[in-house]
Amino acid sequence: MASSAKSTSSSWLAPLIVCCALLACTANGHFLYVGYYDRSCPNAQDIVHSVMASKVATQPAMAPAVLRLFFHDCFVNGCDASVLLDSTSHMESDKAAEPNDSLAGFDVIDEIKSRLERACPGVVSCADVIALASRDAVSLLGGPTWNVPLGRKDARTANVSAADAYLPSPHANLTKLLDAFATHGLDGQDMVALSGAHTVGMARCQNYRARVYGYDGEGKIIDPAFAEERRRTCHAVGGDNIMAPFDEHSPLTFDNTYYKDLVARRGLLTSDQALYGCGGPFDNLVRTYSKDSERFARDFATAMVKMGNIPPLPDMPVEVRLNCRRINY
Ligand code: HEM
Repeated sequence: MASSAKSTSSSWLAPLIVCCALLACTANGHFLYVGYYDRSCPNAQDIVHSVMASKVATQPAMAPAVLRLFFHDCFVNGCDASVLLDSTSHMESDKAAEPNDSLAGFDVIDEIKSRLERACPGVVSCADVIALASRDAVSLLGGPTWNVPLGRKDARTANVSAADAYLPSPHANLTKLLDAFATHGLDGQDMVALSGAHTVGMARCQNYRARVYGYDGEGKIIDPAFAEERRRTCHAVGGDNIMAPFDEHSPLTFDNTYYKDLVARRGLLTSDQALYGCGGPFDNLVRTYSKDSERFARDFATAMVKMGNIPPLPDMPVEVRLNCRRINY
């Protein structure tokens, strides 16, 4: 009898421990799973997809913009939509940080959120909206798709100094880049795969000038014809906002051209070229991605899920915001 009581209590113990572990994860709202909204908002993913599809059809540049938002959200105190908060008299927005000064796509997120609020009020977090919208951004540009674990919660505060501190610089060398990703539990392969996001979108002259004029160390690893071509529009002084595509052949197609460019020493940013040809350990991986688009697509999807799992700080209060630009009162 005693032994049966004992075995009963120990058979309860294991699920209890697992349960407590899960609750620990949910304390700051960060136990994520794919079916999170299956009951509470079954059309959530369709709504996100339909807004993204119609936006990208008329303004394809919104897709890279939204994808970049996800990175800039997750790298600053976790994926908690802090990047979407506007400044108030009490709080300076992440948007005021230098690496965020050209972020776009906020209106698209607002539109998705207002459609979701009409369908399921107060249910779908802004952080999940960014995660789903960036997945759809990639697939709408011809890239891979994947299941997005959901259930993120939204921060009640922004952190402009964390945004300045945690977002890597376009002048960073490999060591600094690896550090920036390792801080968030992402390894070198994740970093190389995620950097493939630069197969779409544009950068401003002020961010690649140092590379094409040879001021940064990695600036020496450059195809001279490419440097010359970029210098034609990006002058040594002035015109900081002149844009160039990362991938000049297919700037709005999510493919593996980014890696082909790196192998050809035509990476646009110093931080791009730092992945290849500068004495680091990732040359083989870059070459593999440049030849094997399926492998890149798979690794990119895996790394996006991993990046999307970066939790908010454990003691940070969270909520499901009703308007992504401001906290609930
Ligand atoms: C490895 C470190 C990274 C650095 C240093 C970096 C830096 C930059 C810079 C400087 C720009 C151009 C901004 C401008 O000139 O206005 C840019 C654009 C972009 N970044 Fe990154 N980035 C990094 C990683 C990532 C990651 C991991 C993603 C997403 C998974 C991403 C997605 C994008 C996209 C899509 C654009 C184009 C945005 C547009 O055209 O609107 N980046 N990045």
